[in-house]
Amino acid sequence: MAAVSLLLVAVNLACFSFSGTLVSGGRSFSIDYKNNCFLKDGKPFQYISGSIHYSRIPPYYWKDRLVKMYMTGLNAIQVYVPWNFHEAVQGVHNFTGDRDLERFLDLANQTGLLVILRPGPYICAEWEMGGLPAWLLQKPNIILRSADTDYVQALSSWLAVLLPKVKPWLYINGGNIISVQVENEYGSYYACDYNYMRHLRTLFRFFLGEDVVLFTTDGNTDKEMTCGTLEGLYATIDFGTDTNITEAFNRQRRFEPRGPLVNSEFYTGWLDHWGDQHAVVDVQKVSRVLGEMLTMGANVNMYMFEGGTNFGYWNGADHDTRFRSVVTSYDYDAPLSEAGDPTEKLLAIRDVIKQFREIPSGPMPPATPKFAYGFVKLKKVGNISGLLDTLSPLGPVKSQYPLTFEEMKQYYGYMLYQTTLPRDLSESTPLISPLNGVHDRAYVSINGVFQGLLERDTVLVMNITGQQGDTMDILVENMGRVNFGSKINDYKGLLSNLILGKDVLTDWKIYPLDIDGAIAGGWPVSVSPQSSASTQTEPIVGPSFYMGTLQPNNLAWDTFLKLKEWTKGQVWINGVNLGRYWPARGPQQTLYVPGPLLSTTLPNNITVLELEKAPAHLRILLMDRPQLSGPDKKS
Ligand SMILES: *[C@@H]1O[C@H](CO)[C@@H](O)[C@H](O)[C@H]1NC(C)=O
Ligand SMILES: *[C@@H]1O[C@H](CO)[C@@H](O)[C@H](O)[C@H]1NC(C)=O
Ligand SMILES: *[C@@H]1O[C@H](CO)[C@@H](O)[C@H](O)[C@H]1NC(C)=O
Ligand SMILES: *[C@@H]1O[C@H](CO)[C@@H](O)[C@H](O)[C@H]1NC(C)=O
Ligand SMILES: *[C@@H]1O[C@H](CO)[C@@H](O)[C@H](O)[C@H]1NC(C)=O
Ligand SMILES: *[C@@H]1O[C@H](CO)[C@@H](O)[C@H](O)[C@H]1NC(C)=O
Repeated sequence: MAAVSLLLVAVNLACFSFSGTLVSGGRSFSIDYKNNCFLKDGKPFQYISGSIHYSRIPPYYWKDRLVKMYMTGLNAIQVYVPWNFHEAVQGVHNFTGDRDLERFLDLANQTGLLVILRPGPYICAEWEMGGLPAWLLQKPNIILRSADTDYVQALSSWLAVLLPKVKPWLYINGGNIISVQVENEYGSYYACDYNYMRHLRTLFRFFLGEDVVLFTTDGNTDKEMTCGTLEGLYATIDFGTDTNITEAFNRQRRFEPRGPLVNSEFYTGWLDHWGDQHAVVDVQKVSRVLGEMLTMGANVNMYMFEGGTNFGYWNGADHDTRFRSVVTSYDYDAPLSEAGDPTEKLLAIRDVIKQFREIPSGPMPPATPKFAYGFVKLKKVGNISGLLDTLSPLGPVKSQYPLTFEEMKQYYGYMLYQTTLPRDLSESTPLISPLNGVHDRAYVSINGVFQGLLERDTVLVMNITGQQGDTMDILVENMGRVNFGSKINDYKGLLSNLILGKDVLTDWKIYPLDIDGAIAGGWPVSVSPQSSASTQTEPIVGPSFYMGTLQPNNLAWDTFLKLKEWTKGQVWINGVNLGRYWPARGPQQTLYVPGPLLSTTLPNNITVLELEKAPAHLRILLMDRPQLSGPDKKS
């Protein structure tokens, strides 16, 4: 460590030798190109930052997570603003409740944390469509992340709302935002459209002024740095523990010959897709590489420091060789766990930071208490085909050929496509999606009896039997839009015709399903479990709803919901959509239930939509610890 400290002195000497003019009023934040560092209030400044996404944490825990980051010794946080979270309907903006960006900035400021803001408009983030609103896809040929007129018009209107809100929060204006990122890893996108980046630069300067530090972030290759950087936007780089630091910062230097070294995304962990092994990144590697970067005088943001949860339908997806959707947990193996608990990784990072700056005195706040509430019995409410009056109050839209989610203006969740069998099928007859047009999973029933499923890129044919005139119900699940790469125009639903034997299926009734609206409105009315109802003789198959109540017990503590032997679906608790479960595919086995969602006085209502097969014992388990790795091969 002696060698490390000596080096540190040498590097910092360069920065501290600066004797710039002090800005009147004392608040300034800028780049010192002469001495290769940031300047805050005229003095050399190095940030040690961590990423945290307010959209992935319940608001009542925002302060708790921020305090833990501050107590680790961080002096800044890095925050994405997801456009689609704030403008779900074009022209209608929401900045209240869990979308209250200014409250989050205020809490960070009160905690003593500076903010590096990443307002997109595209953010990636393993978030649904990389933060872009799905209503953009109503223009069928829109070229996202380019100078396309429709795209530019939409984002300009959005930034005209967002950036004026942000402006008073700039450090130079009395707030805590020291720098603002333009776009995100634009160099990884095929379009490489400098006119688009120039337009963004103009907008950011117009709304935020000439003095704020604007920057870009790109992956560690020349191609990415070439397409992602633009004059007037300070070029930074991102890389994880397996990268040669010297080479990476040399690359940043080729694009930014003078100025501070910045790793905008130093990966402390990694994400999981359904079907992956649970990703972990070694604690020793993270602390060693962090120490090396700080020794070089670099500014570092740890991505993620607190990952949180993809509640509801907010997870993104990747599409490289095939579509792969991101799991509900965004724990990320980060220093603070999904439930905000300090981990060994956090303590190791704090020990590294201690060598570089004074860290706040006082204890690290403890983990929030967890409780194992035990088993909750569920009761079947009904199958989805029998519940259409409740779930689709406006009724179906009729169409000769299938319409997409975007054409139906239902952007998330589930829709049901219904038609009738055109002829008798006494023998197994293939139902085919010849153009791979099922986005993303289709659960097929005939007269309410489940037949099987089609899955994008993997299962494009299944067998059906039935009689002419039988009702065919196809529930289609949107598994989250692609958030990275060239396939982000990710339309959902049935994108092309289905063929049954030799017939193209036509004359559809398409039911938009407002499951969240129904549940928020108090459906399904709680029924006390009947003694006979909680155990089935035969497992139930096909998309169906189940509900149960957890009796209040004076404790509203965090807990983890395990759906052992359930197959795949979605869960709500007291009207809040906790996200998707899929223990059969894994790796995630439990869903995080934030304690404040639970009532200490009223029965807690749990609703489960199981899409495939419920277990014989209709029950779920609330346990006191997460299980993010599985499936359990034992038993
Ligand atoms: C805004 O979002 C909050 C959830 O954070 C919700 O309760 C509220 O109804 C929304 N407001 C509008 C106008 O949609
Ligand atoms: C941020 O916090 C500081 C005190 O820590 C306070 O002086 C300042 O007014 C706050 N800024 C805003 C915009 O609330
Ligand atoms: C990193 O790259 C530099 C320059 O190419 C090389 O000298 C050094 O040995 C490499 N370090 C490691 C740990 O591989
Ligand atoms: C689905 O629900 C409806 C309405 O409750 C019922 O009539 C029908 O029998 C159910 N179908 C199956 C296959 O259970
Ligand atoms: C469909 O049925 C045919 C004929 O019975 C069979 O050969 C084929 O394997 C089945 N296909 C699927 C996908 O089950
Ligand atoms: C659960 O639902 C029942 C009615 O079905 C309602 O009386 C109760 O308030 C709900 N519980 C909570 C915590 O909202």
